[in-house]
Amino acid sequence: MPVPTVRSRTELRAIVAGWKAAGETVGVVPTMGALHAGHLSLVEAATAGSDRVVVTLFVNPRQFNDAADLAAYPRTETEDAAKLAPLAVDLLYVPDGDQMYPPGFATTISVAGVSEGLCGTHRPGHFDGVATVVAKLLLQTGADRAYFGEKDWQQLQVVRRLVTDLDIPCEIVGRPTVREADGLALSSRNLRLTAAERASAPALAQALGVAARAIAGGTAPATALDAARAAILAAGFREVEYLDLRRDADLAPVETAGEPARLLVAAWLGDVRLIDNLPIPTVG
Ligand code: PAF
Repeated sequence: MPVPTVRSRTELRAIVAGWKAAGETVGVVPTMGALHAGHLSLVEAATAGSDRVVVTLFVNPRQFNDAADLAAYPRTETEDAAKLAPLAVDLLYVPDGDQMYPPGFATTISVAGVSEGLCGTHRPGHFDGVATVVAKLLLQTGADRAYFGEKDWQQLQVVRRLVTDLDIPCEIVGRPTVREADGLALSSRNLRLTAAERASAPALAQALGVAARAIAGGTAPATALDAARAAILAAGFREVEYLDLRRDADLAPVETAGEPARLLVAAWLGDVRLIDNLPIPTVG
């Protein structure tokens, strides 16, 4: 069954109001399309957790700090709708730019703290764009729950902070990263890798895994991070943009051994920027 598609806020609101009037809960999966198994796992979690599920598809220009990256971003609405058809999705919301940012739009939401450093340093304005569009999508859909992948760990923490600070009555659900058999985290950007780059790409997750286990086993973080950086470059990545150990929830530098921590990385393979992250396993 094709998923019904709406393109205007007015239509969206009318449908959601009907569901709410019937006492039904609403889950939303915000996406920029180019859906892969990672997105579909979010949709499955949403269908299990809510009576009604809305998937949003909007390539948000405000979160791209690089015009070439925005232009190269895949637009695959027909294929995306086909992938959603077998799932219990009630509505696909595909707003155009004017629905999201009408003439005169002048508000930007900026989340301090968790959006600073890491991707925040290397993609200026990115998290302002994410926070602004996510706030709008949560308000437009009136969702009770919203689902995000843990691959974008910093984004997930920005969204959690945003809904807490702005009293948006929506539960944020983070779901585990979905990986290829060789460990590469699923990403729409993987489609842009050449065959040779695709063969090198799993080195990113492998290096994180080795470093995470070493740190859990007592190796000094600086030593483990140096070895991971060298392994990533030796595998053919041209630049490690950042590789850092941070506190899990607020992404502050780790100060006390044993507190929940996570390795986060962004690295360039040819023209493609890949990100990944892994928690430090607890020893015991
Ligand atoms: O993760 C994404 O695909 C985007 O950042 C999101 C959350 C849909 C906002 O545009």
